[in-house]
Amino acid sequence: MDGNGRWAQRRNRPRVFGHIRGASRISAVVREADRLGVKALTLYAFSTENWTRPEDEKSVLWKLLIKFLKKEETELARQNVRLRVIGEVDRLSAEVRASLDPAIARLSKNTGLQLTFAVSYGSRREILRAAEAFARDCREGRRDPAELEGKNAESVFASYLWTGDLAELADVDLVVRTSGEVRVSNFLLWQSAYAEYTFIEKCWPDFTPDDLRQAVETYTSRDRRFGGVQPSASVSATN
Ligand code: IPE
Ligand code: MG
Repeated sequence: MDGNGRWAQRRNRPRVFGHIRGASRISAVVREADRLGVKALTLYAFSTENWTRPEDEKSVLWKLLIKFLKKEETELARQNVRLRVIGEVDRLSAEVRASLDPAIARLSKNTGLQLTFAVSYGSRREILRAAEAFARDCREGRRDPAELEGKNAESVFASYLWTGDLAELADVDLVVRTSGEVRVSNFLLWQSAYAEYTFIEKCWPDFTPDDLRQAVETYTSRDRRFGGVQPSASVSATN
């Protein structure tokens, strides 16, 4: 969800104005994702690098997260949305945890759209923590290092990532980045190994459910080969 600050600055407003507008866009996008049949939606809300921002900007971002939960939880429950967070949750303030943890617990049994907020998230950090946890399990006899050579190696390792409990849904199909930036910025690096990317010029506060629909349409029209060849291509080659 990129470009809140620039969106506001272009209107001669403070950056936080963009965050406020951006946050107000989330619920309609979640609803549209569900309507489109998306099974899992991850919103990159705060990166490990975002901790370097000014205190007042960060505090608005956290307040917006708390406000979102307060305002939207009932609607998320009605939509059967399951909520989770990925990231360094131990770095979040007690105040944020006090609103986040119970909301996650209350929505945890839901079986519909899997909605994930990435907060204090960084993919390199996630991979390091997974490696560390796997090594600890090996040291304490719960795992064997040889499992990272076996045929289930990737799924064994993936189960240690913060997205581990999403199982196969953790494999990202489509990444949508707003605001015209064309980079990955430490987002779901392992999980996006075969993702399709779309880069949209609009800043996040202008992003609409229809933009999501169009991104999904673009995705559907892409030819995904996962490094292989299309069945039709190999048939014609042997004909
Ligand atoms: C929102 O946009 C994403 C968050 C980190 C909350 P930005 O705050 O990155 O806005 P720009 O990129 O500076 O315009
Ligand atoms: Mg940005």
